[in-house]
Amino acid sequence: MAQSYTAPKGTHDLVGASAAGWDFLQETARTIFSRYGYASIYTPLFENTEVFTRGIGEATDVVGKEMYTFEDRGGRSLTLRPENTAGVVRAAIQANLCVDGASAKLYYAGPQFRYERPQKGRQRQFYQVGAESLGNTSPLADAEMIMMLWDYFLALGLKPRQMTLLVNSMGDETCRPAYRDKVAAYLRLHADKLCEDCVRRADTNPLRAFDCKKESCRVVMDGAPALKDSLCDDCRAHNDAVLSVLDAAGLKYQLDPKLVRGLDYYTRTVFEIQVNEGLGTQNAIGGGGRYDGLFQDLGGKPTPSIGFAVGAERIMLALDAAGIDYAASTQKVIYVAAAAEAQREAALSMAMELRGRGLIALCDLQDRSLKSQFKQADKAGAAFVLIMGEDEVARGGVTIRNMESKEERFVTLGGIVKMLTN
Ligand code: HAM
Repeated sequence: MAQSYTAPKGTHDLVGASAAGWDFLQETARTIFSRYGYASIYTPLFENTEVFTRGIGEATDVVGKEMYTFEDRGGRSLTLRPENTAGVVRAAIQANLCVDGASAKLYYAGPQFRYERPQKGRQRQFYQVGAESLGNTSPLADAEMIMMLWDYFLALGLKPRQMTLLVNSMGDETCRPAYRDKVAAYLRLHADKLCEDCVRRADTNPLRAFDCKKESCRVVMDGAPALKDSLCDDCRAHNDAVLSVLDAAGLKYQLDPKLVRGLDYYTRTVFEIQVNEGLGTQNAIGGGGRYDGLFQDLGGKPTPSIGFAVGAERIMLALDAAGIDYAASTQKVIYVAAAAEAQREAALSMAMELRGRGLIALCDLQDRSLKSQFKQADKAGAAFVLIMGEDEVARGGVTIRNMESKEERFVTLGGIVKMLTN
């Protein structure tokens, strides 16, 4: 026998319930996001590597350790997208979407790639749904973005009490450099209690030390200076305005001075939604923030923007933990069974007729006996089985069996479509 293969480490097939879950996440995104005026965008799975090194930042874990970078046959350095924001901004610049003060609201759903250590809720190929509000500068845009994310999770079936919304401000290029220096000085002062990475971060990217998962570093960072005390007047006013809209909308949040997010493009508002139970340390099901400088970093005109992305694997784990059955189909399945060989073609024609009327209709394609067709129907979760035998065909109809009540009765061909489409 030839050797068989499994999916590469850190990747998984979406099949069965997980495929249905991914469909559900995408369909719900379309429904909810379109209410806010979002249109879809599809960008390539790989970009020129610089889109990410410049966009996300050289000193981030994502760029420094986690990218799938390769040279193509033409000697170009390409990278599988570790996230979609940089690609969307690159595409918006290329298509001139935001010239002369124009704004755009775009959303996407698709795979992302990060070379991380796989664990529950952390994959090397994972799926994200995300949204980007480009060129919208007002604090109202930040608040609307956060409310849309919350709305999305509610539409998926999560309850407010199962989620925590964290909010922080990262400042901007006016106030952040001085704050960065303060944190660097703090890290140097406590270098003896920090891991090697965090000691190095004092020189490369001090704010990343807030992300360190090591308990000893977390304890040190609990006492670190908070950016909220160093915000410039504009950033403070922006932050106050965002929070006051959230307050007015009755959306509960926690201010988290340690929330810095793992990507360097963020300015001002950052936010994350965590689930309270069932996910362990990978409990962030989605997050995002404002990125007012990213267009310029990628060669565009200043276009302040904000967005978020959510992780499909983690959401499905959270929905599982909350007992939400996202794989359940809402449309009834009908199985058309042939009693004998002579009725197989008639059964297929009947299935085609029902499909033409918008119904889900299955029939046997493997010459199964009537008994095993019933087993198939059961397995497919059919609500009704239409039995076509010699007698039924002669009388111009079918016997319909309600699989729940087990009731059976004869219905004419004309009557059956009417009955099932009602
Ligand atoms: P991120 O926080 O890096 O942000 O990722 C967003 C979400 O993707 C996370 O909250 C998590 O649910 C999921 N995620 C990230 N890495 C993995 C992984 N290795 N395995 C499974 N799930 C994962 C971004 O990607 C930004 N682009 C969000 C954004 C959009 N900011 C502004 N606009």
